Amino acid sequence: MSALNIVILAAGKGTRMHSDKPKVLHAIAGKAMLQHVVDVAANLKPSKTVVVYGHGGETVPKALVDSNALFVLQEPQLGTGHAVQQALPQLNDDSVSLVLYGDVPLIQQDTLEKILAHKDSLTLLTQNLADPKGYGRIVRDQSGKVSCIIEEKDASSEQRQIQEINTGILAAPTGLLREWLGKLRNENAQGEYYLTDIVAMAVAQGVVIQTVQPTHAWEVMGINSKVQLAQLERIWQLELADRLMKQGVTLADPARLDIRGELICERDVEIDVGCIFEGRVQLGNGVKVGAYSVVKNTRIASSTHIAPYSHIDQAEIGEQCHIGPFARIRPGSKLQNDVHIGNFVEIKNSDIASSSKANHLSYIGDATVGSRVNIGAGTITCNYDGANKFRTVIEDDAFIGSDTQLVAPVTVGRGATIGAGSTITKDTPSGELTLSRAKQISVPGWQRPTKKK
Ligand code: UD1
Ligand code: MG
Repeated sequence: MSALNIVILAAGKGTRMHSDKPKVLHAIAGKAMLQHVVDVAANLKPSKTVVVYGHGGETVPKALVDSNALFVLQEPQLGTGHAVQQALPQLNDDSVSLVLYGDVPLIQQDTLEKILAHKDSLTLLTQNLADPKGYGRIVRDQSGKVSCIIEEKDASSEQRQIQEINTGILAAPTGLLREWLGKLRNENAQGEYYLTDIVAMAVAQGVVIQTVQPTHAWEVMGINSKVQLAQLERIWQLELADRLMKQGVTLADPARLDIRGELICERDVEIDVGCIFEGRVQLGNGVKVGAYSVVKNTRIASSTHIAPYSHIDQAEIGEQCHIGPFARIRPGSKLQNDVHIGNFVEIKNSDIASSSKANHLSYIGDATVGSRVNIGAGTITCNYDGANKFRTVIEDDAFIGSDTQLVAPVTVGRGATIGAGSTITKDTPSGELTLSRAKQISVPGWQRPTKKK
């Protein structure tokens, strides 16, 4: 098997995006279009990947992560053939070159493998469209053999009837590609160097032309506008939802789910409408996620229920917990089993051991909370003095009365009780009641002020 070189064309301007951001950096499912293509390319284990960029300058190479790709600048942009010419110095003649497009983000590995299965030929990825307008057409001779590709703008009215279109994606032996690209001319309606002109050259030379169709029509959808971007986003989200349901996940509505990363579900997971999952999220057996929750880079263990409108980011949540509604769990939080976090409670960078509860209106930041602790409504850990952050420790079985401020660094001893409304600035002893509020008084004969005339 000969080595594989991959060329990704990404120099186009993207005028119709009406954006200062290069077109290929707009995202599908939370990931730049070009990154999708670079990732699928990497799965094919090429010996080289070359990204041809132009518009947007260095923002394009800088935006890509974990990429071994080489970048070559195409300036000016004189057509798809000219774009591939810019990559030629990087390519190896004894390889097969595969040409992909940074604005055709959802091309799948199995389709590319079908293309690469053909050896020693020029292989085109084509598609039959009811409305082929705008695309280059695949012209075949009477025996059905491909004879050339004709661009819409150069086509006769007869040729425009052809419904088989060029997706743009193709593969060819690199040595031949180099030879053909050297002969390109720009004498056509657009004054461009067309990559598609290599087809007629190959035919003239007796090289076999193969055609392959994509497994799914959406794989070859190219993006030129925000409308197309949103359409492809929905198609892809429905595809992801479909895959989850086929694994047994219950989705209240597959059309109202957004996955911007990787969502890994065990059995009997239920997800209500409007949820967004970002980064890598793992949901254990029987996890339920309530409507309009946002969960990012988090692991949630079995039988935990997330009530609606909860926001969870970089957390680890144990089994049988109850979170929300309207809870916010921020990075660095670890909740063990059977923890209850209720409405308008914010947890940040804190460890909370099993069976502890903070059910209403609290801020727990930089805290270590033991087991079976009850944190009353309105409790706040004062973890920040304006310059530094300090930890609060609440030991097992403590009871924190409502509206308590715990001024860190401070430790509440095991089994301690804090009276409601206290401001705790010193460690409190185990098993005892500590409170810091002023005594209640009533003022006899006091009268409310009245409005002055
Ligand atoms: C191209 C094909 C056409 C095919 C269509 C599929 C040619 C001549 N035509 O047409 O047969 O049906 O794609 O969408 O190849 N690009 C560069 N540098 C350039 C020009 C383009 O990098 O100088 C990149 C663009 O960023 C884009 C891709 O190549 O990703 C296709 O360019 P585009 O201008 O959209 O080609 P079409 O005219 O649509
Ligand atoms: Mg195009």
